[in-house]
Amino acid sequence: MNAPEKFPLFALSAWSAQQLANVEQALSLWVAGPAAGPAPADLCEAMRYAVLDGGKRLRPLLVLAASEAVNGNGQAALRAACAVELIHAYSLVHDDMPCMDNDVLRRGKPTVHVRFGQAQAMLAGDALQALAFELLTPEDASVAAATQARLCRMLAQAAGFQGMAGGQAIDLASVGRPLTSDQLHYMHRLKTGALLQASVMMGAACGAATLAAQNALRDYGAAVGLAFQVVDDILDVTADSATLGKTAGKDAAQDKPTFVSLMGLQASRDYAQQLLAHALASLDASGLENTHALQALADMLVNRQH
Ligand code: IPE
Ligand code: IPE
Ligand code: MG
Ligand code: MG
Ligand code: MG
Repeated sequence: MNAPEKFPLFALSAWSAQQLANVEQALSLWVAGPAAGPAPADLCEAMRYAVLDGGKRLRPLLVLAASEAVNGNGQAALRAACAVELIHAYSLVHDDMPCMDNDVLRRGKPTVHVRFGQAQAMLAGDALQALAFELLTPEDASVAAATQARLCRMLAQAAGFQGMAGGQAIDLASVGRPLTSDQLHYMHRLKTGALLQASVMMGAACGAATLAAQNALRDYGAAVGLAFQVVDDILDVTADSATLGKTAGKDAAQDKPTFVSLMGLQASRDYAQQLLAHALASLDASGLENTHALQALADMLVNRQH
């Protein structure tokens, strides 16, 4: 039986189940199977292995919840949800490679490079990144050209040197070096926060939102984005590998600067709760009526056990 819902007026698990059914179906259709074309079968298989059957799908849910809050175009939102997840999946494939975190377990399975080899893992990541932008630019009229362009720019910025890739570079350069609080915030904001915040803002870009609502959602996205990585750092210390579906204890073993190494476990937990309160206050200030899913997702993301 599911745990009781925290926000009694909104059934997050029922809402998520419905949204995720659409996301899983779309991903399975859009992430090419070996029968799809001339690419070597192994590459397609590695791409599907990296994306399908696993992951909490938090980013697609944030896209869809934000789109719902602004009455967004459902087709655009579904494409944006899948595109963000493809960038995320690609980032995980590369993050796990021996030249980065050298991990052998992801989403409860051997990592892509363990299963398919390093060259194939690198190419699968490359191809997933390209596919994300293909999904955002359908040839039919289902998504207005201006919306397509805007979504592409937002995702590119969040994935690139000012976002995920830049943050990953700082992460690697920081091994064994204690960071100041400002430096750690900056790293986490880029490495993880940017893509989570972009998920919210891309959902918002699928509909019409006032400037005030957009600013409030940006604020919400920044808070949940940072809180997400604070919790990831906490779980690396407190959870076991079976629960996480990835190797626990890696951060300390690799001497990575994290919120736990900077401020300790309890202060990190308190900080995550402060960020949650900030995220919820931002939603209150947005002037948007239908923010129930965004509210419940923020709570779930901060209080998750894996
Ligand atoms: C893990 O992200 C990697 C980070 C960005 C910290 P998730 O915890 O969202 O991973 P999945 O998608 O559920 O596997
Ligand atoms: C990864 O951060 C962030 C990405 C951009 C993929 P971590 O290295 O902490 O993620 P996990 O703990 O391996 O999932
Ligand atoms: Mg890493
Ligand atoms: Mg890692
Ligand atoms: Mg981690």
